[in-house]
Amino acid sequence: MIHEESDRPDRLKEKTAEEEEIIFSLRPLRLAEYIGQPNVVETLKIAIEAALRRKEALDHVLFNGPPGLGKTTLAHIIANEMGTKIITSSGPALEKGGDLMGILTHLEKGDILFIDEIHRIPKNVEEFLYPAMEDFAVDFIFDKGVHARTHRYRLEPFTLIGATTRAGLLSSPLRERFGITRDLDFYDEKDLLLIVKRSAEILNVPIDSEGAYEIARRARGTPRVANRLLKRVRDFAQVRADGRITQGVAREALSLEGIDEFGLGVTDRKFLGTIVFHYKGGPVGIEALASTLQIETDVLLDVIEPYLLKSGFVIRTSQGRKATEKAYALLDAPYRDELSLFGTSKGKRETRP
Ligand code: ADE
Repeated sequence: MIHEESDRPDRLKEKTAEEEEIIFSLRPLRLAEYIGQPNVVETLKIAIEAALRRKEALDHVLFNGPPGLGKTTLAHIIANEMGTKIITSSGPALEKGGDLMGILTHLEKGDILFIDEIHRIPKNVEEFLYPAMEDFAVDFIFDKGVHARTHRYRLEPFTLIGATTRAGLLSSPLRERFGITRDLDFYDEKDLLLIVKRSAEILNVPIDSEGAYEIARRARGTPRVANRLLKRVRDFAQVRADGRITQGVAREALSLEGIDEFGLGVTDRKFLGTIVFHYKGGPVGIEALASTLQIETDVLLDVIEPYLLKSGFVIRTSQGRKATEKAYALLDAPYRDELSLFGTSKGKRETRP
């Protein structure tokens, strides 16, 4: 299935159509406008300029990282910077070899093929990508068994941009065919603050620095979340205040959304609460958590857990997930550490030496 920009697949379940629309309009279109991820931006600037000077297609690029950090945005920016078309698809949408063949054989010189969730591409489809990426060719197979013949079909030089939330699930032959591989990291508050201010300006919402900071620091390190929260706060400001976003307005609006001081939402707190109260702090396997929470394992792994790990509320051990002292403090629960395994609790944090 081919999806041009205006016809994007409903891939990541956490985005609604309304969010898609607004987030698209807030997305930077050029590298110069892109805030954050300085190492990624610098790598891309150099690679793009070199490819343009040599009049070649850019090397294949793999972006890895949690949802909402800019993988799709960067793919569109690369197309803009290279002055080429972008054709988008996703791993699960490419069900048969023929789906991918159809796309590959229609690519024009220098086009970008963006495959989201590339780790979910079926194995038999993935194999068509190897010669396509390496030699710009695809092998058609006619007949079967002893009569099988292959015909090599030349492709135009193109750039594959893959996005994944779990690079570890990619087979090594596929991973090794990307010339540029970059992990996208959570954004710091300073960059999120700039993103919130930029988005507010585009949306024409009056906001002061304290209001913008309140949104930025509760955005789970994620621009998509920052833009979504900004939209909710904007509604609140319009209906319950004078339209201006101040710190007080942002605080009230975000607490109405169930977003706490740390930017954690209801599902985050349920995740932590399940480990702490149901599994006595862990360790607990992700599958057990998924079934207790009635949430898909993939959603826990891709969407919920990365930020909780990054911000130190949970740790991953060989036996499973464990809640940290910070999680106990957040839930106002008496902290138990390893000693509790032997029936001794050290009690609350303030009683510890
Ligand atoms: N909007 C969403 N992500 C952004 C980013 N990284 N820079 C600027 N604006 C954005």
